[in-house]
Amino acid sequence: MTTRKHKMRESEVSRNTEKTPPRISVVGTGYLGATHAAAMAEMGFEVIGVDSDPAKVAALSIGDVPFFEPGLPELLRKHVASGRLRFTTDLADATALSDVHFICVGTPQQRGSNAANTSYVEAATLDVARNLTHDGLIVGKSTVPVGTGARLRDLIRDHVPEGVRAEVVWNPEFLREGKAVADTLAPDRIVIGGTTKLSEAILREVYALPIAAGAPVIVCDLPTAELVKVSANAFLATKISFINAIAEVCVAAGADVSVLADALGHDSRIGRQFLNAGLGFGGGCLPKDIRALMHRATELGAFSAASLMQQVDEINMSQRQRVVDLAIEACGGSVLNKRIGILGAAFKPDTDDVRDSPALNVAAALHLRGAQSIVFDPEANDTARRSFPTLSYADSVTDAVTGADVILVLTEWPEFVNADAAELAELSNRAIVIDARNCLNTSAWTAAGWDVRALGRSSRAVSTDVYERESLLSVA
Ligand code: UGA
Repeated sequence: MTTRKHKMRESEVSRNTEKTPPRISVVGTGYLGATHAAAMAEMGFEVIGVDSDPAKVAALSIGDVPFFEPGLPELLRKHVASGRLRFTTDLADATALSDVHFICVGTPQQRGSNAANTSYVEAATLDVARNLTHDGLIVGKSTVPVGTGARLRDLIRDHVPEGVRAEVVWNPEFLREGKAVADTLAPDRIVIGGTTKLSEAILREVYALPIAAGAPVIVCDLPTAELVKVSANAFLATKISFINAIAEVCVAAGADVSVLADALGHDSRIGRQFLNAGLGFGGGCLPKDIRALMHRATELGAFSAASLMQQVDEINMSQRQRVVDLAIEACGGSVLNKRIGILGAAFKPDTDDVRDSPALNVAAALHLRGAQSIVFDPEANDTARRSFPTLSYADSVTDAVTGADVILVLTEWPEFVNADAAELAELSNRAIVIDARNCLNTSAWTAAGWDVRALGRSSRAVSTDVYERESLLSVA
């Protein structure tokens, strides 16, 4: 129980008058919550992370991060050791000892629907509200369908204990897996929605360091804050599907989508990021967020957004089929009993996350067609094995490539990009590589004897660029 004194004010959360920093609880300790908790401790606050999974709490309590996220284990250990950060399964205890409660639980896609499952967010918010022993600021960070915050305010209204005030506001998180620590410590913007003057001041205090470092603060209403996050992911997804649609034109016209993307990217209004054509997007966020937006926009009668997202999703999913088709073609019309070296299982580099991973989806599709898919990922072999135990897993790039009839580069890990193409050509059965992420140096691989095939680059563009340039030089 807290011993602090809190001065009550009309219609808003109060804060103690003596200037002690707010104490923080973080409910849900997955990628988002564990990183947020460690980052808050790094920013100088006392933080309690809460999770219903005792194994996760036990691991985090000794500084073990149960997933691969560069830099996070170091930060976590630092603050578990400093005593500023601890973890518990006891939400009542954490709530009683904190002033600001960040809700960081997942909003996965509902089974049998495109909608997001907000039941964990509802349960966590209600739990915090019921267990408040003094005024509390409940801050949603999870990605939610617009309108959720307002619903949560109604939901908790009759559950906040007598004499205690609670506010629900939204402060979406924009961290990327693989770069979660840097994104949290130095966010490119801080969006806070639905605040009163006092809760805005509390959040400005919480984010004082990044604000002082120049992070812009956008103060807005609750639905706008919820929608900023969803729209950001929808835009990123649209950018990827746009370049993949243009890649189709490139193939038909004999053009090279990688060069085209570089040229487009020089226009600062467009920018080069998220214009890498290839296998498309996956992971725990972009796919389910565009589907949730599709669902919510339809509910709201905003049909243009819904149909745009449908198209983005369709283009994205068709990229996986294109890679499967390229593999079948490379194997002469059937992959039955062909040995296929699969380089990559994670949905992107620098993570072991295989949720909705395009790489694993392709590996499994080829396996179902009778191929021997031999998968290697520098970090995600274990998580992949748990999701797809029937695939075979190799211990190294060379194991995956040895004897392969074709190899597929499905995640652009530096280890694959920098591999010794000549050595691998010796090991493979037929030196054919499908560069599904347009990440290989095609000239070097071609020179090493590989037949390089890529998405969005006609075979002429892939294999002849360097020779064409050489012959032009000799003519000159
Ligand atoms: C995404 C957003 O980028 C974050 O801002 C957001 O906070 C996060 O979702 C979230 O909602 O929590 P993340 O899922 O970590 O982050 O992954 P991204 O880096 O966005 O990549 C998503 C997918 O797009 C990956 O499969 C990646 O390979 C693919 N991608 C990315 C491309 O196919 N082409 C590109 O040019 C870029």
